[in-house]
Amino acid sequence: MTPHSDNLVLIGFMGSGKSSVGRLAAKALGFQFIDTDQAVVDRTGRQIAEIFATDGEAAFRVLETEAIASLAHLHRCVISTGGGAALLPKNREQLRSLGFVVCLTASEEVLFERVSRNAKRPLLQTSNPRETLSELMKARRAVYAETAHWTLDTTLLPQTEVVEALIVAAKEAFAWKRTP
Ligand code: S3P
Repeated sequence: MTPHSDNLVLIGFMGSGKSSVGRLAAKALGFQFIDTDQAVVDRTGRQIAEIFATDGEAAFRVLETEAIASLAHLHRCVISTGGGAALLPKNREQLRSLGFVVCLTASEEVLFERVSRNAKRPLLQTSNPRETLSELMKARRAVYAETAHWTLDTTLLPQTEVVEALIVAAKEAFAWKRTP
């Protein structure tokens, strides 16, 4: 981290809570909240599912990389990323240069329960989403670990505790003084 990279970047698998927890952490820190999936939607005027369906995953990854690159000037933001944002080495480097990168994890069971609440994730529209999730997690574990400065397992934590832990870790990473 450079001294000026005072953003909190959240990476991790679909359903790990990046957006919901990120929003709350941003509010508590007085930071702006940015979501890279939303950035893709805003930049293209198209929904993620539609991009996957019409142009495929590779096309989405190009748009996602462009959206991540466009964040370089940001300060004091919580940046929530799509679950595959760390797949490309170029993105990994960019995400780490943006600030303090935290990977949110949870057990496969918990993640599957969370992602099953809605059917909006194109990569899980398979005949066996549970198996797909398991395979994707296996394939991505090392990439998440390599990208993150810190990893937080949320399996057993209520949302409020995840947010609290994030804030404490972020303040430490930004070397903010505890008292004025
Ligand atoms: C993806 C995760 C999604 C979205 C896209 C691809 C992935 O974001 O970027 O469907 O490759 O894991 P969430 O992690 O917010 O669901």
